[in-house]
Amino acid sequence: MAEPSREREAILEVRGLVKYYPLTQGIVFRKQVGAVQAVDGIDFDLYAGETLGIVGESGCGKSTVARLLMSLERPTRGRILYKGEDITKLSGRALKAVRRNIQMVFQDPYTSLNPRMTVGDIIGEPYDIHPEVVPKGDRRRHVQDLLDVVGLNPEYINRYPHQFSGGQRQRIGIARGLALRPEIIVADEPVSALDVSVQAQVINLMEKLQDEFRLSYMFIAHDLSIVRHISDRVGVMYLGKIVEIGGDAEIYDHPTHPYTQALLSAVPVPNPEAREHRGRILLHGDVPSPANPPSGCRFRTRCWKARERCALEVPPLAVPAVFQGTDTPAAHDSACFFAEDRANP
Ligand SMILES: Nc1ncnc2c1ncn2[C@@H]1O[C@H](COP(=O)(O)OP(=O)(O)O)[C@@H](O)[C@H]1O
Ligand code: SF4
Ligand SMILES: [Mg+2]
Repeated sequence: MAEPSREREAILEVRGLVKYYPLTQGIVFRKQVGAVQAVDGIDFDLYAGETLGIVGESGCGKSTVARLLMSLERPTRGRILYKGEDITKLSGRALKAVRRNIQMVFQDPYTSLNPRMTVGDIIGEPYDIHPEVVPKGDRRRHVQDLLDVVGLNPEYINRYPHQFSGGQRQRIGIARGLALRPEIIVADEPVSALDVSVQAQVINLMEKLQDEFRLSYMFIAHDLSIVRHISDRVGVMYLGKIVEIGGDAEIYDHPTHPYTQALLSAVPVPNPEAREHRGRILLHGDVPSPANPPSGCRFRTRCWKARERCALEVPPLAVPAVFQGTDTPAAHDSACFFAEDRANP
C-alpha cells in the first residue's frame, strides 16, 4: 500500500456535498412536509491510486454518497470535481464520458447480476453503452480476458449466475466493473454479503487489480475491521456527515472522535492480553432519524462526553485545536469540540 501524501494528485474532490430526499404527504396533492438529510455537507478528496475506506452504521448515507459520485443522482447542493471539473452539472455526452471512468461494484452479488443473462453478456454489457471501447468482434476475447483477470475460468463465459458461488459472483461483478477500464471504482460494501473466509479472497483480488490497473478505490463498509486491510485512509460517517478522517494508522491507533472510539472498541481483538487492557465503549440509544437530526453535533444524543456547547454549535471537520501544530498522529481531522487521543491497543 502506498503512503498517503498531501502532495498526491486528487482525482476526485468532493465539496459541501448535500443530498436531501423530500418527505411528502398526500396522494393527489403531494405536499413536502420535510426532508431526509441523507448526506449533509461532506468534503473529502480521493487521491490517484489510493484506497479511501468509508465506514459507518447502516443508514448513515454511505450508499447515497456512492450514487452521487456515480452521477446516478444529482446532489441537492455541493460539487464533485473529477480532475478539476464539476461533474454534477454535466449531461449528455460529457456525462457519459465521465461515467466510463467511474465504475461501481455493488454489495449483493446475488441480486445485482441478472439471472437470465450469461456471464459473458453481463460482463460485456457496458460495451453496449460504450461501443468505442472494444470493437464488436473483439468483445468475447476481452470478456474472457476479464474472467481470467478476476480468477475465473474463461470457459465459463456461457454460464449463468446461479451456477456460481457468492465469491465467484462478486468476481463477476468486479470483472464487469473493470470492463471499461475505469480509473475509479466505488465499491459499496462489496464483501458484506460474503462469508468471512471469502471476504479476504475478494479483498486480496481487489488489491491485486488496483496495482495492475492503477485504480483509485472508494471502499465502503459498515465494519472498520474490513476496510483496515485495504485502506490507505479512512473516513468515518455518522448521520450524513464525516466525523473523522485520516491515514489508517491515525484512525485505528489514535482515534480522537468519540464515535470512532466506540466503533473501534467493538471490533474483536484476537490478542487476549490486549483485550484485557481495553475498555469497551457501549453506545446507548439508536441512531436518530436523518429526517430530524439533533442540533449541533449529531452524535451528541449518544455521546458520553456531550456538554452544552455540543447542542448549540456544529463541530467543524478539522484538526482539533488541542492537536494543531503538534506532530502527533492525533493531529488529523475530527469533528469534535472535546477530541482526545485514545490510543487503541
Ligand atoms: N431514494 C430515497 N428516498 C428517501 N430516502 C432515502 C433514499 N435513499 C436513501 N434514503 C435514506 O437516506 C438515509 C441514508 O441511506 P443510505 O445512503 O442508503 O445509507 P447507508 O448506505 O449508509 O446504509 C437513510 O435514512 C435512507 O433511508
Ligand atoms: S462535539 Fe460534543 S457531542 Fe459531539 S462528539 Fe464531541 S463531545 Fe461528543
Ligand atoms: Mg448502503
